[in-house]
Amino acid sequence: MAISRVGVIGLGTMGAGIAEVIARNGHGVVAIESSTAALEHGREMMENSTARAVKRGKLTEADRAALLGRVTFTTDYPALSDVDLVIEAVSESLELKKAIFAQVDSIAPPHAILASNTSSLSVTDIAVATQRPAQVVGIHFFNPAPVLSFVEIVKTVVTSQEVVDEAVGFARSLGKEPVVIGDRAGFIANALLFGYLNHAVSMYESKYATREDIDDAMKLGCGYPMGPLMLLDLIGLDTAYEILDTMYKQGRDRLHAPAPILKQLVTAGLRGRKSGRGFYTYEAPGSPVVVDAVDTETVELGETRAIASAGVVGSGTMASGIAEVLAKAGIDVVLVARSADKANQAVTRIQESMDKAVAKGKLTEEERDAALLRVRGTASLRELSYADLVVEAVVEDLEVKRALFVELDRTCKEGAILATTTSSLPVIDLAVATGRPADVVGLHFFNPAAVMKLVEVVRTVATSQEVVNTAIALCRNVGKHPVTCGDRAGFIVNALLFPYLNDSVRMLEANYASADDIDLAMKKGCGYPMGPFELLDVVGLDVSHSIQRTLYLEFREPGFAPAPRLEHLVTAGYLGRKTGHGFRDYSS
Ligand code: CAA
Repeated sequence: MAISRVGVIGLGTMGAGIAEVIARNGHGVVAIESSTAALEHGREMMENSTARAVKRGKLTEADRAALLGRVTFTTDYPALSDVDLVIEAVSESLELKKAIFAQVDSIAPPHAILASNTSSLSVTDIAVATQRPAQVVGIHFFNPAPVLSFVEIVKTVVTSQEVVDEAVGFARSLGKEPVVIGDRAGFIANALLFGYLNHAVSMYESKYATREDIDDAMKLGCGYPMGPLMLLDLIGLDTAYEILDTMYKQGRDRLHAPAPILKQLVTAGLRGRKSGRGFYTYEAPGSPVVVDAVDTETVELGETRAIASAGVVGSGTMASGIAEVLAKAGIDVVLVARSADKANQAVTRIQESMDKAVAKGKLTEEERDAALLRVRGTASLRELSYADLVVEAVVEDLEVKRALFVELDRTCKEGAILATTTSSLPVIDLAVATGRPADVVGLHFFNPAAVMKLVEVVRTVATSQEVVNTAIALCRNVGKHPVTCGDRAGFIVNALLFPYLNDSVRMLEANYASADDIDLAMKKGCGYPMGPFELLDVVGLDVSHSIQRTLYLEFREPGFAPAPRLEHLVTAGYLGRKTGHGFRDYSS
């Protein structure tokens, strides 16, 4: 069957986007809304979106006119009597969807396929409201539908294979990459996305970090196109609430129980970008322009301490990377390693890294030479006695770090700030090993430190405001973007990232989808730079397992328990790319 005419029911954010994509690809569209006002609003959204596409050079003015000319806007269901496919995209209410499907079933021609764009409701429940359940399928697009190329095709136990094949072919004809999966709440992408989004909301709600810092952390730390709170605003907080609620009711996973503030915002009518306000305030309803974001790069800091000289303890990649960053910014650095040899190796690594930067045109030869003169390697902690700041970047072992902090406390001058780059240990444990807990702070750089812009500034219950301010000012001075958070396992990025990676492993374990399909879903459906299995293999499964275990032990969330498959791979020595085998085989 050739699909040439398609009905789209519901012209909200998703429906309007879907209608646009379909009409753009040459199909006739019957676009249906329940009221004239809603219909007009939908038409406006399509007009605005296509106008933006013209402005961006993605569409000619003539093609835009042809696209809009292919759409019949109506409130009359009988207009669906000659379509080949109907895609429903109304709000996430099972009762509403069932009623619509029953009605459409009585109007659409017998050959027509009926599809739902539901994100979380059971397609099977919807299918049985019709007399043609074998012709009912899920076709789930991602927001913004004209931009994101992934589509989930949901096959219920009664959907015929022929219908699934038609849906797949249709999605491909729209330039989308479809993946066929079973009927489970959240399918692939939402099931992996919404636990993360909900956790981010809880962080914000508990004032663990600001909305800007949470969003910036995930953009800069993970390369996501949007932070979680701004993404929720785009998805719509009402939709997000409904998706989480459905997922919670199906799986009873506490991590999917919608964070209370979501409900409050929805009740107050603050439904995100479409209503002009959600976590952020927008220029106008539907506008992507935020008007109340705080520019965290320039916000005024109170008292700070001067940092002219610094020490870095350690000789690994983090230590040398941090020393490089500080020296390039004009700070004198003493790098202390366990032996003179190791110190020399670290200094050589810094030189090689700077040489590369020169070769790439990111640094001049003069800048490199001046920066290198500022770095001195040594094996003696005593040489840190004049440093204004010492950054510890030794092995992630609490006893080793604690012993080092005792030494630093003895060696460093009064007023020196003692910082740790730990990514998983409690900073307060190190602070209380010293006689100056107010001067101890976390400075969590990301690897490679010379490249990654993000630094998490971790404030313990004892850290003074002046020390936090100084840490933020330092990050700004050395060209990094600081975000501030409390002293909880995983800080912002790891706490939000690793449970999602662990959930992906659980999904694989449950044989719901393949690693390739899951990676594709997150890259093409959410714009992530890497899929979860690609990332796990790069980070290392031992490292990932250890971070996940730390999170589990701190939060005691059953959902954070490391997935058995992850544990087994680590036990087998399959640690990812570094051993040639992880979730994928890299040996050949
Ligand atoms: N037609 C064609 N192209 C269009 C377009 C249209 N109507 N509108 C925008 N584009 C193009 C733009 O021209 C631009 O392309 P170039 O970069 O080549 O110029 C590109 O799309 C991005 O558009 P913008 O520049 O306007 O926006 P941006 O760069 O700020 O990106 C974003 C915005 C696409 C939303 C990006 O931030 C993103 O991908 N965010 C993640 C979104 C996400 O995760 N979505 C999934 C949510 S979950 C879901 O949807 C499922 C559910 O059930 C809830």
